[in-house]
Amino acid sequence: MISMHGLIRGNNLELGKDADTGGQTTYVVELTKHLVRNKNVEKVDLLTRLIEDDDVCLDYSEAEEDLGHGARIIRLSCGPKRYLRKELLWPHLNQIVDKCLHYLKQQNRLPNLIHSHYADAGYVGQQLSLLLGIPQIHTGHSLGISKRQRLLASGRKIHTIEKQFNLQHRIAVEEDVIQHASLIITSTRQEIDEQYKQYTNFHQARFSVIPPGINTSKFSPPSRKKITSESQQHVDKYLDDPEKPLILNICRAELRKNISGLIAAYGSNSKLQEMANLLIIAGPRENIRALEDAQKKVMTDLLLDIDLYDLWGKVAVPKSIAQDCIPEIYRLVAKRKGVLINSAFTEPFGLTLIEAAASGLPIAAPDDGGPRDIVGNCRNGVLVNTLNQCEIASTLIYMLEDSSRWRQWAKNGLTGVKRYYSWDSHVKKYIKEIQGVLNRDKKKIRRQYVINANIENVSPNLTRVKAALISDIDNTLLGDKSALIQLENWIAERKGKLAFGVATGRTISSTIDILKRNQLPIPDLMITSVGTEIYYGSNQLRDEGWSTHIKHLWRRDAIAEALAQFPGMKLQPANTQREFKLSYFAKPDAFPSIAELYSYLHTLKLHCNLVYSHDELLDVLPVRASKGHAIRYLAYKWDLPLDKFIVAGDSGNDIEMLAGDTLAIVVGNHSPELEVLKNQARIYFAEKSYAAGILEGIANYHNELQPALN
Ligand code: GLC
Ligand code: MG
Repeated sequence: MISMHGLIRGNNLELGKDADTGGQTTYVVELTKHLVRNKNVEKVDLLTRLIEDDDVCLDYSEAEEDLGHGARIIRLSCGPKRYLRKELLWPHLNQIVDKCLHYLKQQNRLPNLIHSHYADAGYVGQQLSLLLGIPQIHTGHSLGISKRQRLLASGRKIHTIEKQFNLQHRIAVEEDVIQHASLIITSTRQEIDEQYKQYTNFHQARFSVIPPGINTSKFSPPSRKKITSESQQHVDKYLDDPEKPLILNICRAELRKNISGLIAAYGSNSKLQEMANLLIIAGPRENIRALEDAQKKVMTDLLLDIDLYDLWGKVAVPKSIAQDCIPEIYRLVAKRKGVLINSAFTEPFGLTLIEAAASGLPIAAPDDGGPRDIVGNCRNGVLVNTLNQCEIASTLIYMLEDSSRWRQWAKNGLTGVKRYYSWDSHVKKYIKEIQGVLNRDKKKIRRQYVINANIENVSPNLTRVKAALISDIDNTLLGDKSALIQLENWIAERKGKLAFGVATGRTISSTIDILKRNQLPIPDLMITSVGTEIYYGSNQLRDEGWSTHIKHLWRRDAIAEALAQFPGMKLQPANTQREFKLSYFAKPDAFPSIAELYSYLHTLKLHCNLVYSHDELLDVLPVRASKGHAIRYLAYKWDLPLDKFIVAGDSGNDIEMLAGDTLAIVVGNHSPELEVLKNQARIYFAEKSYAAGILEGIANYHNELQPALN
């Protein structure tokens, strides 16, 4: 389970502490706890961000929190230590991907499934899914396109929205996740029909509606639990004839909730007033004058409308009701054979409808997302056009006038809630769906992933291998046909234990070309353009984490401009120039020395890594990029020790990967610039050339490799 933002801990969630700690946080923690209790689930790790910040509780800086029964919260740091609101997490997500791979590789088993929540975790989940070959399922919780529409409708300007919320990037990520995920879970049918439908990749997605589990243990029908006189007093003191049925509306004081429409409906219908009293709980109002403008208006109108229709003695508007008393209020209304009405114009979910159902109280609600599903599932009331006041009134009369129908609704609500909205039922349906995903996987995911990401090639090799052989291509791998065939066989015999990779100055397309021309299989790993790009397998899945990592301090245009003044340096052909690689032809006597170039660039505050090969090729790379850095990155990411990397090369751009802890082989036909490596530990200078030299080196490292490759 991955949920990146907000403050997540096992108990006492700080709901509402900020905008990112609320419904989603509750859902992921509860789902984790309930899932792991199911006999089909061995283990659930909930992955989130580690936060070290004096302004938030220390709990969030713990790397691991045990939730019992095999469930844990795992916290990995990314970006700055402090708390970040979700819109600011984007640049740091690749770091989480890498840390997570590293972490997973150390566990005794990999997960069977990744479930991501919201677009940020969706991105992380997708990367992990691609890199590990594990299917991803996703819950959006809220979607960028809908958010943008809401903000625009409220009158905000597009560019200020963009600045604050980063929606363009979020929506692009959502498109990718929609396309990639094996399953998308929503709470309501409407989310699919009206929200996901707006995405370009909608038709490529597979959806399942699984309403959230809701803890209804506090709510029960009046027959099962008593009602204190205190709560009753709060209501009855407003009413001339308190024993009449109550029509309950419980909501926040918002215009959208359409309280005024309900009062008008009730106020204009004397038959309805005869039949029932109205009870409105619209949040506390200590001092209306001190409320926020929008709330103030709703509250003021409420009182003015009661006066306008002269409803004194018929409408109860308790000043404030403690949260603990709310279940009693539902019970009181149910006891008096009343109904709950949600008179809002729109309702995406409608928690109060579930609470009412669990209290044995029939419901009326707008014909919209949440209510449509709830009434459809539970058959505990009716949908009503809340824009039409006459219809509101006639619906309420219809609901109140027939007591056997009322009893049936009340009963249906009680069973429906258990059946559709309990955690038990949520987990049951969830497990059924993911078993479907995992079964489909066995057959279909192969096909799907071969197209999408070549999981087949990536996963079995890189997560299970014990060693890797990484070779330069030109003048190392290539040059001796028959030795190359022998080497290929040696590699093939160790498939599953050994990852095979190339590290080259060529671009990815030129790498694929030359390998194909030499009838070589596409390797598990390709480090291309002198270590500035990393790809996996025959579908050339690019390692995005590496790109993010090496962006650091890279100012390509400024460097190109600064170097333009040296006549001895000529740019290589355009097709060798890359986002993170600038390459020149430069003869040793025709340009300043490498040391002089470094100090010149330094005075301009430009940072780079200069790599010189064959006395004529100069590559300018980001400081963090080189074949050697790329190998060290891979060693970390896939948790494979450097001394289990056999690396082979022949020229200058190979130096960094040959030096250090790797098991290095310098082939016999090497260029003079590699002489500097002579007499260093773990660098074997082969007598033989090309692939024969590699084989000779491998034989030399027999003792070091034997335990891993046996
Ligand atoms: C490859 C690249 C070239 C680079 C050289 C040395 O030949 O095409 O751009 O300069 O390797 O790294
Ligand atoms: Mg070479």
